[in-house]
Parts: sequence; structure tokens; C-alpha cells
Amino acid sequence: MDQRLLLMHQAMLADRPRMRAYDRALAQTVEPGAVVADVGAGTLALTLLALEHGAGHVYAVEADPETAALAERIVADNDLKEKVTLLQGDARLAKLPRKADVVVSEMMGNLGPEEDMSRVLEAFARKNLRPGGKIVPRGLTTTLAALEFDDEGWGIWNSGFHGYRLDAVREFAEQRAQLHFFQREPRLLSEAVPIADELRLDIVRPGELHAVLGCFTADLAEGVSLSNFPSYPGCNWAVWIWPLRYSPVAAGDAIRVRVRRPERAHARLATEWWLDCAISRGKGE
Ligand SMILES: C[S@@+](CC[C@H](N)C(=O)[O-])C[C@H]1O[C@@H](n2cnc3c(N)ncnc32)[C@H](O)[C@@H]1O
Repeated sequence: MDQRLLLMHQAMLADRPRMRAYDRALAQTVEPGAVVADVGAGTLALTLLALEHGAGHVYAVEADPETAALAERIVADNDLKEKVTLLQGDARLAKLPRKADVVVSEMMGNLGPEEDMSRVLEAFARKNLRPGGKIVPRGLTTTLAALEFDDEGWGIWNSGFHGYRLDAVREFAEQRAQLHFFQREPRLLSEAVPIADELRLDIVRPGELHAVLGCFTADLAEGVSLSNFPSYPGCNWAVWIWPLRYSPVAAGDAIRVRVRRPERAHARLATEWWLDCAISRGKGE
């Protein structure tokens, strides 16, 4: 089995706020005896939570054959064959033997949409969710915002080292997206704006523009949401960062952003998503 995949699943299970959020959402959503579908089941964390909250049966759908084989083993080791049916394959093509009351999934990337969760769930639910059934998450939003790093991150090349200049490093940095776990909250220079092919980030705070950040918020259930920003201890998703040449900006300036989504084959890689950014100065420009 691909060891990086195993490590990924390990990090996801160890991400306690993630697991707590799904636990709370499923406690609210799963009625006793409910039929649940776990889409992108991985190592079955959400399947097991759904059972804990009273699901009568869970259909666990997993595309990756090695992960599905591992999940099958977990089912056997826990004597869950009567309660869990594993289906290996793309959830978009899956047809369950009966309709589910609840569909649950966690296929969020660093930016949010890389694993195409919304479209996969829409296709899956059309065939497999009973009318009036529920989907967890209910929605997924990606937002972008302009930010000034302090010297923990991209901004570090600004601040020098023991009085020596290191700013030349910036010229060697490739223009491409990076992933970052914040140790402290950075200063946002604009409000967060939902992602679109073209958008505008209005600067509301003066500062030094270092980057645009991208992050997701999943609305799991009433009063339960999950986001990868601000970074929290144990968070398995880094925040997506588009580094910019450093520029001082002031309230009234704006960044015009064009989002370039990668070709389908690379869409799962957050670092293949691109921004074209231009600053316009002053109000009304
Ligand atoms: C982020 S992991 C989540 C695993 C597990 N649900 C959890 O919460 O720990 C997403 C899983 O979805 C699977 N997956 C991605 N796209 C899929 C699709 N179209 N159909 C079925 N499984 C898919 C991946 O192989 C991966 O195991």
C-alpha cells in the first residue's frame, strides 16, 4: 500500500477537531436504525461514528482499491459484516441496493474543491439518497483573502537574520501555490471573499501585502462547521497560500484576482491551482 496514503489517513484520524465536528454532526443527523452511506470511506472513521450514533446499516463507498481492501479488513476484524457493506469504486457510479437516509463524506482539500466533493455527492445523492434525506456536509465554501504574514512564514525573508539581509531568497522562489500551517493568526488585509473565476479583494487595512490565502469551511450540520483556517493544533489540512511580491497597500486599494483551475488530471493537487493577481490603487480604479 502507498505509505503516504496511510500517513494521510493517520493524520486525518488524529485530527481531533475534525473528528469531533463529524461526531457532533452525525449525532444530530443519524436517527436510530438509519441507513447511512459513507462516500469516500477511507479507513471507515465516519462509518464507525455513524454506527455509534445508531445507524442500522452503513454502505461504505471507497474508490481506491488498496484503501478499500484495508477497510474490508477493518470490517472483518470488528465483526461488522452484518452492519457494513463495502463498495469499491467511484461513488459517482455507485448504486446502493436501497436508498440512504443520510450521506456523509469528508473529501475536502486544502482549498476545498480539489476532490470535487460537491459534484461527487450530488451525483451520488441523486441515485442513492431518499427524498428528504440528509447530506453531511450540507455545504462547502472556499474563500480567498489578502494577508500579511508576520515573520513565521513568507514574510520571514523580509525580516533578515541576525541583522543580515536575506531578501534575495524571494527572487529564487517559484511563483506557485504553497501550503502552510500558521503558528499564529496572520493579519488579513481584506475580508474573505468566496472563490469565483474572477473576484476582487478590497483592502480594508493598511499593511504589506505578502500573499493571498485560500481556505475552506464545511457546514456539517446545524451549528457545526469545520474550517482549516485559522490553523489549529493537530489540523491535517494546511492553508493554501498564493505568494505575491511584497507591496505596501492601503485601504481603498484592491487586488483583482483571476483563478486558474488546473486541468482535471491535476485538480486534486492544491499546488496546481493558480492565481493571476493585479493591484489597483485607490478608490474607484
Ligand atoms: C479525505 S479521505 C476521507 C476518509 C474518511 N472518510 C475519513 O473521514 O477519515 C477521502 C477518501 O475519499 C476517497 N475518494 C475520493 N474520491 C472518491 C470517489 N469519487 N468515490 C469514492 N471514493 C472517493 C479517497 O480515496 C479517500 O480515501
